[in-house]
Amino acid sequence: PYVIAAPCIDVMDKSCVEECPVDCIYEGDRKLYINPKECIDCGACEPVCPVEAISQDRRVDPEHAGFVEDNRRFFAEVLPGRDAPIGAPGGSSKTGRIGVDTPMVADRS
Ligand code: F3S
Ligand code: F3S
Repeated sequence: PYVIAAPCIDVMDKSCVEECPVDCIYEGDRKLYINPKECIDCGACEPVCPVEAISQDRRVDPEHAGFVEDNRRFFAEVLPGRDAPIGAPGGSSKTGRIGVDTPMVADRS
């Protein structure tokens, strides 16, 4: 799947959300997260992000490697019960703004 890393924090441009064909990019509080169980690896989101926050998990900048696990954690731990696909396909437009982040993102200054 694709992953959103640190540059999204407090920017939240959301052009990526418009591009995603399966509606799998979810809005936390300070950042957005891609559901790894829903992303179909289409890559449409990557070029539209103005701060280049998005990349495929295998190509994440080493500086941002922790965000691969952190994106997964958002769905597995921050949103208990939402680790399974939400709706089909995707469900971010139904979910809307969730308003919480992973501890790693919330604590980032
Ligand atoms: Fe964030 Fe870039 Fe999307 S700033 S909301 S990943 S377009
Ligand atoms: Fe959507 Fe980007 Fe994945 S557009 S399907 S989150 S590669």
